Amino acid sequence: MIHWPSLKKFPKKLLVPSLLGGDHGNLLSSLKLIESYQLPWVHVDIMDGHFVPNLSFGPQTIAALKQHSFLFFDVHLMLEHPETLVPYFIKVGVDLISFHIESQAPIASTLQYIHDQYCAVGLACNPDTPEEQLVPWLRQVDLILFMTVQPGFCGQAFLNNVLPKIARIATVRQKGNSSFRIAVDGGIDAVSAEKCLAAGADIIISGTSFFDPVKRDPLQQLLS
Ligand code: DX5
Ligand code: ZN
Repeated sequence: MIHWPSLKKFPKKLLVPSLLGGDHGNLLSSLKLIESYQLPWVHVDIMDGHFVPNLSFGPQTIAALKQHSFLFFDVHLMLEHPETLVPYFIKVGVDLISFHIESQAPIASTLQYIHDQYCAVGLACNPDTPEEQLVPWLRQVDLILFMTVQPGFCGQAFLNNVLPKIARIATVRQKGNSSFRIAVDGGIDAVSAEKCLAAGADIIISGTSFFDPVKRDPLQQLLS
């Protein structure tokens, strides 16, 4: 019996704003902007300064923001040891936790632990990691997150060489009649989003372009 939040309930293709690209002096205004577009899901990047050379938010920030919003909270853990912090994110009630296949986490037990806590789970993959490494885990995940830039910062250029990897995992999904979602994250605007959709991605994460009033509309129209 499935206890954790199902990602099947979301539309077939969905624009997911990344809070990292919003106003860090007024995070709540970013959530309200997302809600004003009737979008149900927010992506929150968590960094440790080791796995990636940057820092961002922690569980306390998430707990505070969740008091003001009914959005689905997706945390993307860019951490060397995600397994040590997962319990804290569970405790504040996030809905989806993704961690990296390149991290030091014991993958099987971390996936299982997150599901046992009634939380959806994703496995993230850096641009240079062969997608074959994901295949053994596809039956245990709700989402595969393809990084389409090197993780750590907003505003980088989309890496086209990730597209064939997305397509190969989408084919495995189709052949296996599986229901995990395929997310893309990094350098997403209307042009790159269209390529990702064509390759088989369905969760389209965007920081810089969503929070840019000029770039937002074409992206939003493409995914509406
Ligand atoms: C990068 C993060 C992304 C980031 C995307 O490490 O994982 O979620 O917010 O930002 P853009 O859309 O500006 O590349
Ligand atoms: Zn992210």
